[in-house]
Amino acid sequence: MTLDEKIGQMSQSTSMGHSISEAIKAEIRAGRWGSFLNAGNAGDRAEAQRIALKESRLGIPLLFGRDVIHGYQTVFPIPLGQAASWDPGLVEQAAHIAARETAADGIHWTFAPMVDIARDPRWGRIAEGMGEDPYLGSAMAAAMVRGFQGKALDGPESIAACVKHYVGYGAAEGGRDYNTTWIPEILLRDVYLRPFHAARDAGAATFMSAFNDLNGVPASGNKLTLRQVLREEWKFDGFVVSDWDSVIEMISHGYAAGRADAALKAIQAGVDMEMVSTSYRENVKSLIETGKLDAKLVDESVRNILRVKLRLGLFDKPVPAAPAASAFLAPDALAIAERLAAESAVLLKNDGGALPLSKSISKVAVVGPLADSAVDQMGCWVADGKAAAVRTPVAALRSLLGAARVAYAPGLKSSRDTSTAGFAAAVEATRGADAVVLFLGEEQVLSGEAHSRAFLGLPGAQEALVGELAKTGKPLVAVIMAGRPLTFPAVSSKVKAVLYAWHPGTMGGPALASLLFGDAAPSGKLTASFPRTVGQVPVYYNHMNTGRPPSASELGIPMGTPLDPKDFTSKYLDVDFTPEYPFGFGLSYTTFEYTNLRLSAGPVHMGGHLTVTADVANTGSREADEVAQLYIRDLVASVTQPVRELKGFQRVHLKAGEKRVVEFTLSTADLAFHNRQMQLVTEPGEFHVWIGPDSARGQRGSFRVTD
Ligand code: GLC
Repeated sequence: MTLDEKIGQMSQSTSMGHSISEAIKAEIRAGRWGSFLNAGNAGDRAEAQRIALKESRLGIPLLFGRDVIHGYQTVFPIPLGQAASWDPGLVEQAAHIAARETAADGIHWTFAPMVDIARDPRWGRIAEGMGEDPYLGSAMAAAMVRGFQGKALDGPESIAACVKHYVGYGAAEGGRDYNTTWIPEILLRDVYLRPFHAARDAGAATFMSAFNDLNGVPASGNKLTLRQVLREEWKFDGFVVSDWDSVIEMISHGYAAGRADAALKAIQAGVDMEMVSTSYRENVKSLIETGKLDAKLVDESVRNILRVKLRLGLFDKPVPAAPAASAFLAPDALAIAERLAAESAVLLKNDGGALPLSKSISKVAVVGPLADSAVDQMGCWVADGKAAAVRTPVAALRSLLGAARVAYAPGLKSSRDTSTAGFAAAVEATRGADAVVLFLGEEQVLSGEAHSRAFLGLPGAQEALVGELAKTGKPLVAVIMAGRPLTFPAVSSKVKAVLYAWHPGTMGGPALASLLFGDAAPSGKLTASFPRTVGQVPVYYNHMNTGRPPSASELGIPMGTPLDPKDFTSKYLDVDFTPEYPFGFGLSYTTFEYTNLRLSAGPVHMGGHLTVTADVANTGSREADEVAQLYIRDLVASVTQPVRELKGFQRVHLKAGEKRVVEFTLSTADLAFHNRQMQLVTEPGEFHVWIGPDSARGQRGSFRVTD
C-alpha cells in the first residue's frame, strides 16, 4: 500500500450525505477514503462500493457506518428503556433485528451500543445508555454486541458493533454534554470501564473514542485508556474510530497546538480512524517525513482496520442487491418491538389497583400531545425510523376498544407548550368518561446529544393541565414518555397510577394499550435512580456510605450544634436524602414476597463460591414477571466500597399463588474491586448479601470470605 492509500483507510467521510459526486467517486478510485458514515442511499452505496472494489488500485472495500442506536426502520425503545426490561435476551433479539435491517440496506457498521454509565439525568445522553449500574450495563452491552454481530461477523444479518463513547463521557460535570470529566482511576476501572470490558469480551469489532477531557487528557488522545487498558490489558484487536471531530477538538481542549499536533496525538494514543475531520489526510505524510510520527503506528492502524473489513467478509461480500420492502418492519420485528416496549415500561405507582383499566369501560378519555406523536414516541437518535409506521397509543386504544369509546384531546400542542388554550377541549373530552389516561413527559427533542436540561420537571404547562383535569374528579392515570428520569411530584399526587414508558418506539402504542388494559402486566425495573428534585443530583444507589450516613429519612434542621453535633449527618434540610424511586424499582399488577434467604456456605475460601437462594412468591391475583435482584456489600476493604452493588438478576414468571426458589452463585472473583495499586483484588472479610425486588429492599444475609 502507498502511504496515501494507508491514510485513506484511516479516514472516514460524511461527504456522501445525499448523493455520490464525481469528486467523491474519483477519491474512492484513488483509495483516499476507507469509510463513509451517513452515506446517501442504497444505490449510491452500491455504486461507491463497486468503484472501490473494481476501479481502485487495491480493490479494498469501503466500510459504511450509521447510527443504529435503537433500531433501523423498526424502532425499539430508547436504550435506557430497553435496559429497564432487565431482559438481555430480548434486547439481543432487538439488536439482531436492527442488524438485519441495516445489513439489508448495505450498511456494515453501527455506532452502537452506547454503554456510558450515567449518574446524572440532566445529561441528555442518559437516554442512549443503560443507566447507572456497571453490572446491568455490562449485561446489556454484551447482549447488544451479540445481537448486532451475530454468530459470525460476516453473516448476512450481521453488522460490526462500535462500543462508545470510550471512556467516561457520562460523567460530564453538571450533566452538561461534552463537559469535563474527572474520574479517579479506581472509579474509572470499577464503574465506567466495566461495560466496555464486557462489550470487548462479547467480541465487539470496534470502539469509538469520546469527546470528553478525561482527567486532563482528552479521551481521543488518551494513551492510558486507548493503549494500556484497551490494547495491552484487554488485548483488543479491532479498531478505534474517533467520535465526530473529536481529534481536532483536542485543539479546543488546549491539548493539541493545531491540526497536525492533534493528528499526531490521536494516532500515537491509538485512534486508528478519524471520523469527519481530516487532520490525518492533511498531516500524516508530513508528520512521518519530519520524523515526528513513527510509520509503524500507521501500519498498525491500517492493519486493525483491514482486519475488521476481512472479518466482515467485505472483500468477498458482493455488493448487496437492493433490499426488498419486506426486509424492513417485518411482522417478527414489530412483535419484538412491541414486547420490548411492554417489558421496558416501569409501573411507579398504582394506588388501589387503578391499573389495569377494565375493557368494559364505557369511555376512556386520552389527554396529552405525546399520546399521538409518532416522532416523539420514537425518541432520540432515530436516523431511519419511519414515523408512518409508528402505532401511537391513541390509534392502539381505538383499535382495542373501538373509536367510539376513546375520546382524545391533546390539551397542549407539544410537551413544551405553555398555552392553556387547549385545556377546555381536554376537560370536555373527559365528559362521560370513566377514566382519564394522561400522556405526559418530554418530546424527543429534549433528550439525546447536546440536549441536557438544568431542570427535570415536566416542560410547558403539563402540570397545569393535570391540575385542570383533577378538578373533574375523574380517576386519572399517567403514562410518562421521556428520555431521562424526571421529577413530577405535583402530578404524582393527583393521579392514581404512573406508568413510565420512556420513548417506546414504533410499537409503543400497542404495548401501552396492552399494559393499560391488562393484556400484559408491567415488569420493568428502573436502571437509573429517580431524584426527588434536581438539587439532589447526583443520586445513585451504589454510593459510598460516608462517615456520617443519615438514618432513615431524616428531614429538617438537625438539633445539634458544632459544639454538640447531634444529627449532623449527610443529608439535606429540605428534601429526603433517598431517591423518589430507587434503582431496580418497579411495581406489577400483582405482589411478590421474598422470604427464606439461604446461603450454601459459611466462610467462603478465596477462589471458592457460594450459592444464595430465596423464595419468591406471587402473593397477588394474577400471573406476572418479577426481576429478582442480587446485591452485595463489602463491609470493610482497603478502599471504601459501595453500600450495595448489583451482582445478579433473574426474570421469573409466576402464576398467582406460585412460589419459586431463585438461586444465584457468587464466586469470590465476583466480589473483586481495584485497590490503590490498581490491582483487581478480592479481600477477605465480612459481606452482606440481599435478594430482593430493588436496591432499597430485600432479604439480607451475611457471609465471610477467608484467605
Ligand atoms: C455524534 C455522536 C456519536 C455518533 C457520531 C456519528 O457526535 O457523539 O455518538 O455515533 O457523532 O453520528
